[in-house]
Amino acid sequence: MNRRHLTVAVVGATGVVGRTMIQVLNEREFPVGELRLLASERSAGRMLSIDGQTHEIGEATPAAFEGVDLALFSAGAGASRELAPAAVACGATVIDNSSAWRMDPAIPLVVSQVNPHDLEGHEGIIANPNCSTMQLVPVLMALRDAVGLERVVVDTYQSVSGTGADALAELEGQIRAHVAGEPKRASVYPHPIAFNALPEIDVFLPNGYTKEEWKVVTESRKILGLPDLRISCTAVRIPVHVSHSEAVHVETRQPLTPERARELFAAVPGVVVRDDPDEHEYPLASDAAGRDEIFVGRVRRDPSIPDGRGLAVWVVSDNLRKGAATNAVELAEALVERDWVTHASTRGAPRYRGPVPEPAGGGTA
Ligand SMILES: NC(=O)c1ccc[n+]([C@@H]2O[C@H](COP(=O)([O-])OP(=O)(O)OC[C@H]3O[C@@H](n4cnc5c(N)ncnc54)[C@H](OP(=O)(O)O)[C@@H]3O)[C@@H](O)[C@H]2O)c1
Repeated sequence: MNRRHLTVAVVGATGVVGRTMIQVLNEREFPVGELRLLASERSAGRMLSIDGQTHEIGEATPAAFEGVDLALFSAGAGASRELAPAAVACGATVIDNSSAWRMDPAIPLVVSQVNPHDLEGHEGIIANPNCSTMQLVPVLMALRDAVGLERVVVDTYQSVSGTGADALAELEGQIRAHVAGEPKRASVYPHPIAFNALPEIDVFLPNGYTKEEWKVVTESRKILGLPDLRISCTAVRIPVHVSHSEAVHVETRQPLTPERARELFAAVPGVVVRDDPDEHEYPLASDAAGRDEIFVGRVRRDPSIPDGRGLAVWVVSDNLRKGAATNAVELAEALVERDWVTHASTRGAPRYRGPVPEPAGGGTA
C-alpha cells in the first residue's frame, strides 16, 4: 500500500456507524496523518473517546474540508447532499454511507470484493451500499459468475442498530418498561420494537414496497451489473442489537448442487460458510456481531424450482462493520493501493459512466 499519510475526515463521527469507522481505521492501521471528526453543531466541541484516544468533535461545515484527502460520511442523506459536494470542491474524495448518491448513474456504488474496478472513474463521490444489499451481493456474485441468476427473493431480519443510536436506546427502554410492567413507548419506530417484528423499514413507496426493500432491488442490480435482474425483497426490523440476517431464495440459470454452492461461496473473499445442521451450526447474528465477514449457511436445494436450479441460503453479517464501516474503509484502502484517491479527471482516467453489465454465467457447477 502507498503509505503516504492522509488527512481523513469522519462525518457523523458521534453516530454508531461513525464510531465504528474510527475503530476500523485504527484496527486496520489505515495511513491516517490527521483525523478530523465532524458532526452536527449539536456535538461541536464535545470530546469523543474511542480505543483509549480522546478526540474533539468539530462542526461539519464546507470549510471543515479544507486540506482533507478522504472524507468518510455517515451523517444521513441530507447532510451528504449538502456537504459532500463542498468536500469534493475542496479536493477531497468522499465515501458516502447514505442513500443520497447510490443510484446516481455517474457515481460508483461499490462492494469491495464485487466491483472494486468501478472505483477507477470516480469524480470525488463514491457510494457505499445499503447494509442489507452489502451482505447479499457477494453471495449473488458467486452464483452469477458460475451459473447465472434468473430470479432472487430475499427476506431480511434487520437489527435495530441499523436505524442508529436513538433506536438502540428505544429498544433498551422498551425492554426495561416491559420488565417493570409499564407501557412500551415508541418514537423512533411506529410500533414497539421490543418482542416484535416490524415489516416497515424506511418509508412506503407508491408500489407498496418500502424504500429499504427497493434499495435492495435497485442497488443489487447496479452493483452486479445486471439491470434486468428479477429480484424482490421484504425487509423486517427485529429486536436484535447488531447484525442483519437474510433468507435468500435464488433461481439460477444452470443447475447447481448445494455442495458446489458452498464451495463457490467459500471462495469469495470475506465470505465464510458455517453449515453443519447436525451440530446446530449456522450463521447467527450474535456470532457475526463485531466481525467483518459475511456468514453463509443453511445452504439447500429449493425444490419449488425445477431442474436443480433452486437454492435457499441464510446470510448474516454485522451491519455496522461490513454493512457500513468496514466496506467504506476497504474502499479507502483500495483507492490508496491503486493510487486512485484523487479524482479521475485529475489522474487523466476516464469518468465512471455506470456499471458494465457482466455476461450472465452459463457454465455448469
Ligand atoms: N446503522 C447502520 O447499520 C447503517 C448502515 C449503512 C449505512 N448507514 C447510514 O449511515 C448514516 C448514519 O447512520 P447511524 O446509524 O450512524 O446514525 P446515528 O447513530 O443516528 O448517527 C448520526 C450521525 O450523523 C450526524 N449528523 C446528523 N445530522 C448531521 C448534519 N446535518 N451535519 C453533520 N452531522 C450530522 C450526527 O451528529 P450529532 O451527534 O451531532 O447529531 C451523528 O454523528 C445514515 O445515512 C445511515 O443511513 C447506517
